[in-house]
Amino acid sequence: MIKIALVGCGRISSKHLEAIDRIHELRLVAACDNISNRADSVASAVGCIPYVDVEHMLRETDAEIVSICTPSGLHPKHIVMAASRGKHVISEKPLGCSVEASEDAIRACRDAGVHLFVVKQNRLNPSIMLLRKAYEAGRFGRLYMILANVLWTRPQSYYDAAKWRGTRELDGGCLCNQASHYVDLVQWFGGEVAGIKAFSATLSRNIEAEDSISVVINFASGAIGNINATTLVYPKNLEGSITIIGEKGTVRVGGIALNKIEHWQFDSGHDMDDEVKSANTDPPTVYGLGHEPYYRRVLKALLGIENKVTDGAEALKTVKIVELAYASAVRKFTENCGDGVQE
Ligand SMILES: NC(=O)c1ccc[n+]([C@@H]2O[C@H](COP(=O)([O-])OP(=O)(O)OC[C@H]3O[C@@H](n4cnc5c(N)ncnc54)[C@H](O)[C@@H]3O)[C@@H](O)[C@H]2O)c1
Repeated sequence: MIKIALVGCGRISSKHLEAIDRIHELRLVAACDNISNRADSVASAVGCIPYVDVEHMLRETDAEIVSICTPSGLHPKHIVMAASRGKHVISEKPLGCSVEASEDAIRACRDAGVHLFVVKQNRLNPSIMLLRKAYEAGRFGRLYMILANVLWTRPQSYYDAAKWRGTRELDGGCLCNQASHYVDLVQWFGGEVAGIKAFSATLSRNIEAEDSISVVINFASGAIGNINATTLVYPKNLEGSITIIGEKGTVRVGGIALNKIEHWQFDSGHDMDDEVKSANTDPPTVYGLGHEPYYRRVLKALLGIENKVTDGAEALKTVKIVELAYASAVRKFTENCGDGVQE
């Protein structure tokens, strides 16, 4: 039995609780939230100890793993705190809102000799796993374009419900938050990044960070990546998709959150083509169904069976891309247009 303590009992914590509940080898022993009734309600539902202070919980708990579901900008601080108490860490995505803080968190875990896992549950969607299988089998040939669209709706009330949302320090905008999994996937397929340009805007929501962004990535391989994200789609979530265009194949995985294979075509057939239909799922929310498989992989890694979990170093790649995109987006886009376009 492996004991877990949870920090942050807000919206996403329910996916963690569900996963822990379904895996018999795991048990929640402590739940912490600085809003005490949130910690209390998890504790009374699960039968664990509630805390309002992270340090207090870490001092007392005998949990081996700490799962962190606090606002994104707090992840690095909470990771460092847990690591310094010798706990393995599962952090929600993103690893952090800055490269510097994220690197501090990775270093703290390395120095303490503990694992740092970062939740990238969309990699475990059956549709994405099949896409990856085709990629690893070389079915695309040379990759030309990797395109992601995150066309979702988050009304003003969503941002107003928690102070941290939409702030640069604790959340970032739709790229760092809603599109974080898509940045991860685009780079997972695209590989080493050679350059990034972005244009962002806060067109409607009353927030500090962007509600809409377009990012172009120049991969070292020569392939072009593109991520478009917005939280302004009227009137509801429209699409969460990735499209890969290669020399010998084209695949598009879409649905509301990368749950349906919408296009699957290669120059020659393969046994895996029979799996396309069964790889489609129907998750109730954009969070998908991947938290439980993610925890199962964490368990296998901790038991030394196999380590196929996204870790801190892998998650840092997304933080770097987001930071470079934001740095590019603050420069005026018209710099590149020249007089001809302006006239
Ligand atoms: N994997 C995914 O698909 C996915 C989906 C949604 C959210 N997330 C991530 O999960 C994180 C949380 O998002 P959410 O939507 O659940 O937010 P939320 O605001 O609903 O929950 C965050 C919780 O953390 C608590 N908290 C804040 N500071 C704390 C502190 N110092 N100590 C203890 N508790 C503290 C808050 O009171 C709140 O209950 C974010 O980083 C977000 O990006 C991931």
